[in-house]
Amino acid sequence: MPNTPIMTVANLHKTYGKAGSKQYEALKGIDFTVNEGEFVGIMGASGSGKTTLLNMLATLDQPTSGEVTIHQQPITHLKGNQLADFRAKEIGFIFQDFNLLETMTAYENIALPLTLQNVAMKQIKPAVENVASQLGIAEFLTNYPNELSGGQKQRVAAARALINQPAMLFGDEPTGALDSSSARELLDLFSKINREQAVSILLVTHDPFSASYCQRILFIKDGRIGQELKRGDLPRKDFYQQILDTLGTFEQ
Ligand SMILES: Nc1ncnc2c1ncn2[C@@H]1O[C@H](COP(=O)(O)OP(=O)(O)O)[C@@H](O)[C@H]1O
Ligand SMILES: [Mg+2]
Repeated sequence: MPNTPIMTVANLHKTYGKAGSKQYEALKGIDFTVNEGEFVGIMGASGSGKTTLLNMLATLDQPTSGEVTIHQQPITHLKGNQLADFRAKEIGFIFQDFNLLETMTAYENIALPLTLQNVAMKQIKPAVENVASQLGIAEFLTNYPNELSGGQKQRVAAARALINQPAMLFGDEPTGALDSSSARELLDLFSKINREQAVSILLVTHDPFSASYCQRILFIKDGRIGQELKRGDLPRKDFYQQILDTLGTFEQ
């Protein structure tokens, strides 16, 4: 459904360091909503708070105050089994450096979220084969990570993130370690998956080319959202230029 929120972020604050010691306020009140099926980008200079924000949204860290709701579930105070279940069902995460387990094959890496939930082998196999074929890595399933290129590794990581059919896919600079043609391939796959499977995507990047694949971009500076850009019907190349122009004025 269009314009149905899948994630809401309300007055999110994050201060690093304990009271009484040296503290740093990395997020100073962040508010925004992501709708079902949206592909949203977060841009900002190094140190602006992008990774901090993404880690709060993806339940990898807890905010100092504020609330995040995903699929009607408030997530900031989830703990233990509830947190593990929520992550397994609703969230996929892709990192810049792939985070694949080197001692496991591509197949075993992709299957891991299901293996950890004790899903039956006979259900795992078709699920892995299905997501691997969507991401164009079906022929590499028996390879170990060190036998794959960067682009192939990131597609294995994407398959692992998507195998649970999460509501939200988060990426922290997922193209940061890729050459430009592998980056383009991955971004095209994100767009396809976003369109065809209604997975909502939140991509953190400082790269204008990656950001040009998004439908909407939030610009963050010193822990606050300072500007928003919507692509609308603009061709990607024109949106790319608009992003460059915005960065030119925003980062001053
Ligand atoms: N664990 C931490 N402890 C203290 N300060 C941190 C920690 N993580 C990040 N910071 C600080 O918070 C700010 C935002 O960092 P980060 O979210 O990593 O920015 P970005 O991803 O946009 O480069 C930076 O000034 C950084 O030094
Ligand atoms: Mg970062």
